Amino acid sequence: MPAKPTSRVRPDLPAGVASQREAIEKLDELSEKARQGGGLDRIDKQHKSGKLTARERIELLCDPGSFDEIDAFVTHNVSDFGMGDKKFLGDGVITGCGRVFGRPIYVFAQDFTVFGGSLGERYGQKIVKVMDQALKNGCPMIGINDSGGARIQEGVASLAAYSDIFLRNVLSSGVIPQVSAIMGPCAGGAVYSPAMTDFVFMVEGSSHMFVTGPNVIKAVTHEEVSMEELGGAGVHGETSGVAHFAEPSEPDCIASIKRLLSFLPQNNLEPPPYIEPDDDAEREDERLDRVVPDNPEKPYNMLEVIETVVDDHDFFEVHKNFAQNIIVGFARLNGHSVGIVAQQPAVLAGCLDIASSLKGARFVRSCDAFNIPIITFEDVPGFLPGVNQEHGGIIKHGAKLLYAYCEATVPKLTVITRKAYGGAYCVMSSKHIRGDVNLAWPTAEIAVMGAEGAVNILYAKELAAAKDPVAERAKLIADYRERFGNPYDAAARGYIDAVIRPRETRKRLIRGLEVARHKRDVNPPKKHGNIPL
Ligand code: HXC
Repeated sequence: MPAKPTSRVRPDLPAGVASQREAIEKLDELSEKARQGGGLDRIDKQHKSGKLTARERIELLCDPGSFDEIDAFVTHNVSDFGMGDKKFLGDGVITGCGRVFGRPIYVFAQDFTVFGGSLGERYGQKIVKVMDQALKNGCPMIGINDSGGARIQEGVASLAAYSDIFLRNVLSSGVIPQVSAIMGPCAGGAVYSPAMTDFVFMVEGSSHMFVTGPNVIKAVTHEEVSMEELGGAGVHGETSGVAHFAEPSEPDCIASIKRLLSFLPQNNLEPPPYIEPDDDAEREDERLDRVVPDNPEKPYNMLEVIETVVDDHDFFEVHKNFAQNIIVGFARLNGHSVGIVAQQPAVLAGCLDIASSLKGARFVRSCDAFNIPIITFEDVPGFLPGVNQEHGGIIKHGAKLLYAYCEATVPKLTVITRKAYGGAYCVMSSKHIRGDVNLAWPTAEIAVMGAEGAVNILYAKELAAAKDPVAERAKLIADYRERFGNPYDAAARGYIDAVIRPRETRKRLIRGLEVARHKRDVNPPKKHGNIPL
């Protein structure tokens, strides 16, 4: 006689139920068990180490009551190392769909209270499921990382799961926004999933990212370094540029993620969100007429220019502490999201170097991928001279910024506030590389190089023969400035659409944007370009 069918399809879950009331009670009981992750003691430990739990992080991220969990009852499938007795509902990662400011997002949050948030086969499948849904449904994907990495007990199955995630990171790249928050350890190959997402957030003091940790480094190179010095938020926010944001606390970090999302579209086929503006589109600010110092060698703060121009003076800076000679970030003009790229004359005179080229290129590509117009404020004396720069590959890194601007088909509007010299003039969204609106302030100097350098080259013989070389040099510099130290030569050729009074910048950009928003521009069909990596 065949065995009687049993309702226990999952031996790790309790036996079948007798009534609907009992069934619901059973669900509540299991749900509560899942909510407790690795147990109250480990939750307590997590709190004592200054961290929130995975569920608390999701609660902060999502609009109240909007989070629908998926796969809460998944458990691992391993019996080695005594793992058969240790099963936790959800298996150490919480996944699902919620809303942020009313718009759907998918999220996974690694739960450090379960096996240190380490990643195994089933856990990986849970993440892959939400990544696939996010891609299919065109929603941003937010990953909250807090994990000891590959679950050692699961061996190669865990590496396979990581690889499945990496593949999806790449397939989703440029289709949906992908955001990573690092809120604990993130080590080994595990760092490569966040690294391939669009924006990486870290929390000061409690998050760490590195490929090989302090102990391995000590054994191999004999260098002694702490976790914080090696891969803390400060290091990645300032030195490596791996992190776009370093926030003082987890709530600050999550608030910052939400703010970022407010500038981004749901996916590459949608426009970014429009927010009804309070700020007058025709607003002029006469302070801009006084920003640029009379002395061309004197710095000024480009952040003030940006904040004066954008809606409500509200600028959301990205990569704030990394390569500060270039500024990138999001703002709104008349309610529409824009990406801002600007030189900062107060740091390295606003020169383009390796780090700033990488920072700028990455940001330009992010904007282009997600239909966000790019506004460029330019004051650049050129690429930074130096053996380190040349040997470090400024040629290929600077080329990345040029490439990014050239390939971008979103509206591109440029304001030259002062210097636009040499190759840097071409790079920074010039008319020649499909700039849609190219404006210059009357203080603009558009030339192959600065007056001193040009005179040294052009008049080397005359200066050597001059009776009074100092006076002669000063006169030649003044002549050169008169001829090229202005925007009118470029304006005469149509390379600059208009020379404007600085106070009019906001309204001219908004008007330009209104028209350029409807532009259609495409690149030739190809498998993909070959950006000089
Ligand atoms: C299984 C792990 C684990 C892991 C931690 N745990 N990491 N279990 N696999 N990778 C478990 C611990 O055994 C412990 O279990 C619990 O998580 C908490 O860990 P603690 O060590 O008590 O916590 P803490 O002191 O805060 O230290 C956290 C840590 C440390 C720094 C993450 O646990 C650690 O160094 N773990 C190993 C990290 C690592 O080398 N991972 C592999 C990286 S390589 P109990 O039961 O005691 O609570 C990698 C490759 C990815 O990830 C490749 C992708 C291609």
